[in-house]
Amino acid sequence: MAVTRNTKNVPYYLLGFNAFEQLGALVDAKRASGAPALFYLDHFFKDSLPLPLKKGDSLIHVDTSSEPSVEYIDILTDAAKEELKGRLPSCIIGIGGGAVLDSAKAVANLLTNPGKAEDYQGWELVKNPAIYKIGVPTLSGTGAECSRTCVLTNMRRRLKLGMNSDFTVYDQLILDPALTRTVPREQFFFTGVDTFMHCFESLRGQYRNVIVDRLSATAIGICKDIFLGTGDMMNDQNLENMMVASYIGGMAAGNTGAVHPISAGLSIVLHLPHGKANCYALSVLADVYPEEHALFLEMLDKNKVPLPAGICRDLTNEQYESLYQGSIIHEKPLTNALGPDYKSILNKDRLMDMFKAM
Ligand SMILES: [Fe+2]
Repeated sequence: MAVTRNTKNVPYYLLGFNAFEQLGALVDAKRASGAPALFYLDHFFKDSLPLPLKKGDSLIHVDTSSEPSVEYIDILTDAAKEELKGRLPSCIIGIGGGAVLDSAKAVANLLTNPGKAEDYQGWELVKNPAIYKIGVPTLSGTGAECSRTCVLTNMRRRLKLGMNSDFTVYDQLILDPALTRTVPREQFFFTGVDTFMHCFESLRGQYRNVIVDRLSATAIGICKDIFLGTGDMMNDQNLENMMVASYIGGMAAGNTGAVHPISAGLSIVLHLPHGKANCYALSVLADVYPEEHALFLEMLDKNKVPLPAGICRDLTNEQYESLYQGSIIHEKPLTNALGPDYKSILNKDRLMDMFKAM
């Protein structure tokens, strides 16, 4: 096997029910530098999660009704600069689902690097180390807690792309399954199966990495236990299992396949949340991923999660064109799944038929 890319993982994590209680001590250790802390909290938890705030700290509620856009990140960054009056925070804490975790990562990069969010959409564009950051996921499955990217939509360029950089990786995680008890069931499912998706896309792809393969296989096994096992998908054991699967799967999430590009097109045009968009994408990819497509249908059925058809029914030609462009632009994962000839395999007619079948 060829030598792998030099790989960075999250250096520290705490895992377990009520691990969140240790956040205060971790933030205190950083505040010792004299600078305040900057908290980003999912607006869902606005009044229900007490935070270890101290004088001078800032708390920003992140709107997660849509996925973070480059414009939204610029607004958050400008607001942080104004609030901190030119100082840098001692640390940034992101508490929430993938959108909040990714927003906190993006702001941490932009506070130490000049320019706008879209300047850093791509690979290895971040030049200066980011602000120290602590991630606290409250939803499991995206792998955002341990990935080296922060996915941002850019409507102007019709793409969904993150700041892929070692500087984007969290310095510390608190993985507390108790924080996921209040997740609505469908959202738990759609987000959880994101782990299943990016792991099988990786295993079925052409880019190989021995460690990623093992991590992917392990995470897929845990997802099968959760979504096809005898217990309820949201019992305490499975809440913990899902957090572990998301973390392990997140380390393997770099090499997606055909699901994620089509999902990205759906998110750009229909503003579907990522996990749900993945599910619609896989629902029409039975010929590319027959085994996983069948497993996925079983998972939907066992957990009584509906995926009603017709989401692209009333779209205009222009919207269909955007769906096509927003999907086919993702050259790297499509090549991973289908080879260099992916544009003729997934040609426009075929892709249009797929969207119409959703
Ligand atoms: Fe994903």
